[in-house]
Amino acid sequence: MAILVTGGSGYIGSHTCVELLNAGYDIVVVDNLTNSRLESLRRVREITGRDFKFYKVDLLDQEALIRVFAQNKIDAVIHFAGHKSVGESVRLPLWYYHNNITGTLVLCKVMEKYGVKNIVFSSSATVYGLQEKVPIAEELPLSATNPYGRTKLMIEEMLRDLYLSDSNWSIALLRYFNPAGAHNSGLIGEDPNGIPNNLMPYITQVAAGRLKELQVFGNDYETIDGTGVRDFIHVVDLALGHLSALTKVMATTGVEAYNLGTGRGYSVLELVKAFETVTGMRIPYTITSRRPGDIGICYANPSKAERELGWVAEKGIEEMCSDSWRWQSNNPNGYLEEAKIAAGVGAAPSPRTLSRSNEDFFVYIGR
Ligand code: NAD
Ligand code: UD1
Repeated sequence: MAILVTGGSGYIGSHTCVELLNAGYDIVVVDNLTNSRLESLRRVREITGRDFKFYKVDLLDQEALIRVFAQNKIDAVIHFAGHKSVGESVRLPLWYYHNNITGTLVLCKVMEKYGVKNIVFSSSATVYGLQEKVPIAEELPLSATNPYGRTKLMIEEMLRDLYLSDSNWSIALLRYFNPAGAHNSGLIGEDPNGIPNNLMPYITQVAAGRLKELQVFGNDYETIDGTGVRDFIHVVDLALGHLSALTKVMATTGVEAYNLGTGRGYSVLELVKAFETVTGMRIPYTITSRRPGDIGICYANPSKAERELGWVAEKGIEEMCSDSWRWQSNNPNGYLEEAKIAAGVGAAPSPRTLSRSNEDFFVYIGR
């Protein structure tokens, strides 16, 4: 019995792999490495001491995905793989629709072919659109303001249709609020390409001296200090939410959406202050104009997840700050240096390639 984790070498995926392995699950990871590095999975192994298979496969490649299902007994899928940048999706909508929607479509077709009908899907609070009514509960009307958000909405709809067509499917749609933090080992964390769009990685890169100062996008919202308020959730809590959802989908059938958030909002300046207090670092900032498309306040009502999944977020803002900083300060360039070493001189143990016929296809992360 194994859980297939698509997008498993990415930020949330790698943390979820750790929790799955720690909980005793066998996993098989699929990722095309467009937004992540294999080094993250080597570190998942280092943290857990457990071996697992990795396939460098693009979800759009149906034949390759079929090989993964043919070679492994998959019981359920946790589906993280997708592009996730709002700005990029506005510039490259077709790339987003193709990758996120067709990728999910191919995945579901292959799952169906192999009789695997349990799936936990990474949705996002972005499906609530410009909703200003807080806390945000699952029943509120859905909408999207950009192509990225529309891919999440469309996939949710597609998965609902799938269940309507075949009630053996069991589907959890997990709507994440604002993931932050890192594993407390400092070995894995968020490793954005280029200049970060999101607040926490921007703050940690200012603290590390990679960026000069934070720009706070607006201080004229109707919030405690005028700056935007968000529901930051520790990535390990988020990962554990996937395990709770997995237990549910494997025990039942149906399709349900769940908010994964803490239920508590913090403003941008509250987060900056918490970061400074916890780390002793100073974060210089200037106030600039609002970022187009931003809303003032967004935080979850997470009570459905508590009621039906038995899951609650336990880690607070201080832990998110200290863990993010430990990751950033231990890895000032993210996975880049280690990945170079592993690929080059081999000073760090590199994953073993088992398949000679297609070396890119299958890698064994282990001793
Ligand atoms: P990430 O970019 O770190 O991880 C996504 C992974 O998917 C990457 O490793 C990428 O290489 C892989 N991938 C993308 N397209 C693929 C394809 N066609 N085939 C195979 N692999 C592919 O992102 P993350 O922050 O870990 O997010 C994971 C999921 O959660 C995404 O679906 C994202 O939209 C969703 N989400 C993220 C956030 C957030 O703030 N991080 C918030 C809400 C929802
Ligand atoms: C963004 C995405 C959303 C995604 C979410 C979680 C956009 C428009 N939305 O939401 O789809 O689900 O991330 O990954 O990109 N801020 C600053 N300065 C910065 C960065 C952010 O002041 O340099 C502020 C923002 O104005 C906002 C808050 O910090 O008030 C959080 O921003 P961010 O981390 O980008 O997340 P969201 O905008 O909530």
